[in-house]
Amino acid sequence: MSEQRKIVGPFHQLVTFRGLSLRGPLRNEQLEIISNAGMIIQGGHIQEVGDYEKLVKEVDQVIELEGPCVGLPGWIDSHTHICFAGSRHLDYSARNSGDSYLEIAERGGGIWDTVQKTRIADFEHLYKLTRDRLDIQLKCGVTTVECKSGYGLNHEQELKQLRIIKRLGEERSGDIIATCLAAHMTPRDFEGKPEDYLDSILTELLPVISKEGLAQRVDIFTEKSAFSVEQSRAYLTEAAKLGFQLTVHGDQFSPGGGLLAVETNASSVDHLENTTSETIRALGSSNTVATVLPGASLGLGMKFAPSRQLLDAGAIVNIASDWNPGSAPMGDLLTQAAIMGASEKLTDAEVLAGITFRAAAALRLNDRGRLIQGSVADFNVFNVDDYREILYHQGQLKPQTVWKKGQIFGKDG
Ligand code: NIG
Ligand code: FE
Repeated sequence: MSEQRKIVGPFHQLVTFRGLSLRGPLRNEQLEIISNAGMIIQGGHIQEVGDYEKLVKEVDQVIELEGPCVGLPGWIDSHTHICFAGSRHLDYSARNSGDSYLEIAERGGGIWDTVQKTRIADFEHLYKLTRDRLDIQLKCGVTTVECKSGYGLNHEQELKQLRIIKRLGEERSGDIIATCLAAHMTPRDFEGKPEDYLDSILTELLPVISKEGLAQRVDIFTEKSAFSVEQSRAYLTEAAKLGFQLTVHGDQFSPGGGLLAVETNASSVDHLENTTSETIRALGSSNTVATVLPGASLGLGMKFAPSRQLLDAGAIVNIASDWNPGSAPMGDLLTQAAIMGASEKLTDAEVLAGITFRAAAALRLNDRGRLIQGSVADFNVFNVDDYREILYHQGQLKPQTVWKKGQIFGKDG
């Protein structure tokens, strides 16, 4: 039995992102904004967008919006580490008292601290912690969330994280995308033998992940404190042969990962706070998405990645939260994107593209991120009459309703 055709509207403005380029600068004037718009939905997908008065005659059910409303696609957060236990407020405090992220990591804090806390959390507890963070995301309008493992760092514990992510994906019909980040750092168990650890992931862990359908993406932290460019290249090359999509934590503190991501045809390179002009040029003509993570800059008190320069060079620029307990504890994508936009001088169109269809590209998803016929009906409704109000409030303005596959997820209050 096919679901009823329903219309949602009228929207004072519907910002569709139809026809906009995946790469390079965008002016606000390029946005398709339909006034007095309606959106026809059936079976969780968008069937038509257009003039409300015309479309309202063609449906079985009308869901009328109250007051002036602006509609945009649901946000897509392409980079998070929300499957973790514990807090790293002591690291945060120590950093603000003068210690660096890398110094803290070297003395056994940092990622390793979260690994220990995540390892002792049992499945149900860690599942609930992750689900609660996913609910916070959804309430804020994030309808698709990528989630990495990487706080297990042995096979049993990485599988625990990925099975939790898979269960959440099944319960929420696919709005959480898993990535294996077993290569986050060399665990104490393999101290001094990073190649052996990477080898064990390739030969023992990734085959199980494939067999159980736990993840189709593999990530690595390419950095002095984690894995070198050479080690990362060898790992990524083999992971690609096993059929995994690639993504890289690169150029956060020192350059190298960015160019490697381009060379290995990775879906994205994420961070880029300390990238080079050569890498910016390379990303400008590459299909590897440049994912910038303002939440990590805010959490670490570092400069933002050069998103203006990346856009001007022609790169595909995506903005993600990096929500994790260490470098990016805030987790509020819209707030971070708005603040970085103001600092980097990005247009509304560039910021909003960075958390919608350009974010979908980072995850190689082509069924979402724009409000066009055939797309998944994931969208946010804001109680304002001009879309520019959204970034102006720098994250303080929350969606009045969040729609996931054509159904309301959360209402105010
Ligand atoms: O993306 N840089 C490496 N990984 C995370 C931080 C993880 C942590 O500190 O727990 C990041 O910033
Ligand atoms: Fe990260």
